[in-house]
Amino acid sequence: MNNVELKKVKNLKGELTLPPDKSISHRAIMFASLAEGESIVRNFLRAEDPVSTINAFRKLGIKIREENVIPPHPPLSKGGGSGNVVISGKGLYGLKEPFDVIDCGNSGTTARLISGILAGSSFFSVLTGDDSLKQRPMSRVINPLKEMGAEISGRAGDKYLPMAVKGKTLKAVHYTTPVASAQVKSCLILAGLYANGTTAVTEPFKSRDHTERMLKAMGAGIEVHDLTVRINGGSRLHAFDVSVPSDFSSAAFFIAAALIVPGSEVLIKGVGINPTRTGLLEVLKEMGANVELHNIRDVSGEPVADIYCKNAGSLRAAKIGKERIPSIIDEFPILCVLAAQADGVTEIRGAGELRFKESDRIKAMSSELEKLGAGLEEHPDGITIKGTAHLKGCGVESYGDHRIAMSLAVAALAAEGTTVIKGASCVDISFPGFFEKLRSLYR
Ligand code: S3P
Repeated sequence: MNNVELKKVKNLKGELTLPPDKSISHRAIMFASLAEGESIVRNFLRAEDPVSTINAFRKLGIKIREENVIPPHPPLSKGGGSGNVVISGKGLYGLKEPFDVIDCGNSGTTARLISGILAGSSFFSVLTGDDSLKQRPMSRVINPLKEMGAEISGRAGDKYLPMAVKGKTLKAVHYTTPVASAQVKSCLILAGLYANGTTAVTEPFKSRDHTERMLKAMGAGIEVHDLTVRINGGSRLHAFDVSVPSDFSSAAFFIAAALIVPGSEVLIKGVGINPTRTGLLEVLKEMGANVELHNIRDVSGEPVADIYCKNAGSLRAAKIGKERIPSIIDEFPILCVLAAQADGVTEIRGAGELRFKESDRIKAMSSELEKLGAGLEEHPDGITIKGTAHLKGCGVESYGDHRIAMSLAVAALAAEGTTVIKGASCVDISFPGFFEKLRSLYR
């Protein structure tokens, strides 16, 4: 299924449940491995990225097994379905030296968060990844970890994977991150667990806070004040029982699809609406979209809601500056698709970080939307898109990036004729079964 063909649809209707949150699934496996005793993660995301995290912790000597997987489905490595994962945590100092290199696959979250744990663990390890991950910046974690006294080095003068780590006791620092990144912040919080004293991390804007919420619930000495997080070294973590809500970033594709295909009406159940993740909802309000949150509740310390979207005619253009980028960081590609269908000119700036994701997402969306007929201008730090384009189906590239593939699939539903998405199987990174779910809404 590496090439997927999609046609313009009449409308999308229905109620659906989407895959579990990727960020929370990664963290649950990692933190449970460092806790004392058996933890259970319910509704774990069976997709390639979190499986990279499971494989990494198995290599580090942690027993992880699956339970109650429904429906009967392919092995974990192939993904799909939903299930529980049981992790036998061995405490902060219970990991063992891996026999081989740890392969993080396509997952930046795996590589960057684990590096904070390995920096404080008393053994030697090497991290690597696929060709995309090997080109993503690792100096952003290597440099601060070195300030904490870590013995760590990476390819090309400490810039990239592979990365070699010789763990040792770390010293607490107060580090100010130049960019708002939950992966960097979380890496340093985890390293802080292994430091003498209290480690502080300050970021320029608030990035997602799943790490802070989960570690607090596990009993860590962690405090948050505005943009600064403080963590006490040596905090012991209790085992837990956690349920993972559906991923807002996966829901975003379906929200957008309902908003650009006339006559659509969709209800997405049980989606995480952590405010550090849902900047898209604010933008959509400004664009005049009809999106409602129903049945707001708390699930394992994270806010969750059912999201109802009804197509209410055309959207208005929006202006997005750098302070809003962290809360829409993974929604940039789908926001470009929405902008291409809105009335007026949408400008997204201060988004230079998007060039360092699974692909250069500014370049990828500029070139592929242009092929589909959108009027736009690419900037070093963002994009300007002239809306109400009459998109016309053609062959487009995914760049091996799951969120580019899914965004283009949504664009295809509003484009005349047929669109072929090349390299579409990368959706399995976060969303096995994406195309089947989308088609289930066709009316
Ligand atoms: C993530 C943080 C973000 C996001 C990524 C997942 C996380 O990356 O884009 O998909 O789980 O911490 P950055 O920290 O690089 O912004």
